[in-house]
Amino acid sequence: MIITLDGPAGAGKSSTARALAARLGWWYMDTGAMYRVLALSALEDAVPLDDAARLARLAESLAIAFRDGRVFVGDRDVSAEIRTERVTAATRPVADAPPVREVMKRLQQRLAEGIDVVTEGRDQGSVVFPRAELKVFLTASPEERARRRHREEVSRGAATSLNTVLAAQNQRDEGDRVRPVGAMHAADDAVLVETDGLTSDEVVERLVQLVEERRRPRET
Ligand code: DC
Repeated sequence: MIITLDGPAGAGKSSTARALAARLGWWYMDTGAMYRVLALSALEDAVPLDDAARLARLAESLAIAFRDGRVFVGDRDVSAEIRTERVTAATRPVADAPPVREVMKRLQQRLAEGIDVVTEGRDQGSVVFPRAELKVFLTASPEERARRRHREEVSRGAATSLNTVLAAQNQRDEGDRVRPVGAMHAADDAVLVETDGLTSDEVVERLVQLVEERRRPRET
């Protein structure tokens, strides 16, 4: 069974997807991490970030693997490196390239073949797994998302204000909306889950309920 979890940055997708997968004993696929790995490799190999064809070839050649909650390229653990500012900034143009998205889509479909997966990203329900058994679009108000991101950044030692975080987020949201490819929108048949005022445990609980509801008819 495949559960897709899409939504804007700051909606709590990653922690929710991770916790849900752990709870169900399923595999968790972090597709943002896959785009980040490609951006890291492009920077290291000096592949221009606007050369879509070379980026797509690079994507095809990468041995991306997830093990024990860590991200690897071959045997190298890149979990920390892919979260740096530099890689985050490079990921956007990389993820905007249509040929790259095609390669990633095939790779994601192959990785999820025949197993139970919680997959998380922007386009998982709408593009990559249109026939997923359960599609969730996780969202929260801009203020709530900015508050969470601000808390997270402060806990990492960053000196930033809530207003700065909110302004940057608004800009990213706008970028997401107007992207020619990979634009974020909920699949028509996605369940919208608004997380304002819910604890992460409550969100996971709600999703577990949804999974149970979807499974029941298949098992009777
Ligand atoms: O979720 P994240 O911050 O790790 O995502 C990193 C980047 O990759 C971000 O710019 C959005 C993009 N992305 C995408 O275009 N499609 C996905 N399925 C997942 C992430």
